[in-house]
Amino acid sequence: MKAAIIVGTRPEIVKMASIVNECERRGIDHFLLHTGQHFSSNMSKQFFADLDVRLPDKNLNIGSGSHSEQTAKALVGIEKELIEYDPDIVLVQGDTNAVLSAALVSVKLQIPVGHVEAGLRSYDYRMPEEHNRRLTDHASSYLFAPTEVSADILREEHVWGEIHVTGNTVIDILESIVPKAIRSSEGHMPEEEFVLLTLHRAENVDDRKTLSGLIQGISSLQEKVVFPAHPRTVSRLKQFGMWDDVQQRADIEIIEPVGYLQFIGLMLNSKYILTDSGGIQEEVTAPSINKRAFVLRTTTERPEAVHSGHVTVVGVDPKEFPKTIKRVLQSGEIPKSECPYGRGDAASKIVDILEQAL
Ligand code: UD1
Ligand code: UDP
Repeated sequence: MKAAIIVGTRPEIVKMASIVNECERRGIDHFLLHTGQHFSSNMSKQFFADLDVRLPDKNLNIGSGSHSEQTAKALVGIEKELIEYDPDIVLVQGDTNAVLSAALVSVKLQIPVGHVEAGLRSYDYRMPEEHNRRLTDHASSYLFAPTEVSADILREEHVWGEIHVTGNTVIDILESIVPKAIRSSEGHMPEEEFVLLTLHRAENVDDRKTLSGLIQGISSLQEKVVFPAHPRTVSRLKQFGMWDDVQQRADIEIIEPVGYLQFIGLMLNSKYILTDSGGIQEEVTAPSINKRAFVLRTTTERPEAVHSGHVTVVGVDPKEFPKTIKRVLQSGEIPKSECPYGRGDAASKIVDILEQAL
């Protein structure tokens, strides 16, 4: 089997790491291609180092742009590489523009696509991620659903590829990396109690009113907040003239995005997490993390994390979400339950399936 593994952004590097490492371990011929959608060192290179995963064979350096620009550049670049490498399978993960581009090129070249983390749906059609994941699922020959919930969605949509339930690869990575993260974060964590915040979804940060409401509601919690700010959010705060105010606030400590080891340290040491991230909703359910996350969105494509008691979707209304957060915090501990995203063997299951099929 010859596999092309394609990544473009921070979460794809995290969630493909265990598959790349599994291919290395089994001596499978594979080509690791980075589209370069994320390019800053702290959004890309740092993750290969932290995750002990080899550097990509090629980086297309497509960078930022409109959705069409980003996708079109990736289509052209990926096509050239796939024709040259001639893989039996193209593996993509998640719902970014890099994923849609890779899936589209592969299907046109008649190379089967394996979609890792298939079948997630927010049913929020404002989200670029919802467009990308739906289209990719319907272009894929192998759909690796993390849970039965997502597998059922795929069955209901009559996708034409094979559906396999494998768990989520992020759990594989966490189980092996958490001890290292604990060691490396010792002595580098804030001394006072803090809440961890991440925000980057386009529907939250590209809209001035929503972003300013989120900051206002977060401040009303009267917590010390550590905020590793995504570059998209930093540029919007500046564009909307809100940057100086947020930077000067005593309650919000805005920092650069941090590498994976440091971020795990921050999650573990935080009181709770405020986020609109997809990956973080899964990470908090891992037994080695086990934190409460409040999702600053109106929907989630990760209902399993809500059912396990780790995640509460609190919306974006500054009058409502702080009240919901306080109410949930008063209700006590997270109930003990099994991690809904598997046992940390997703990559090995995925590679087994592909080795048998191809
Ligand atoms: C992308 C994905 C989103 C995913 C997120 C992970 C799409 C449509 N969106 O959103 O699903 O959750 O990645 O973080 O694919 N920038 C930098 N350095 C970087 C990367 C980005 O400065 O390394 C800045 C650029 O100004 C860019 C902006 O961030 O314009 C947004 O980057 P982009 O890749 O377009 O989308 P994300 O918001 O990162
Ligand atoms: N993350 C990180 N450093 C940060 C913020 C996030 O390492 O400063 C990690 C986080 O643990 C998760 C991934 O980045 O594994 C999630 O990325 P993001 O929220 O950007 O994307 P999403 O998962 O929403 O697509």
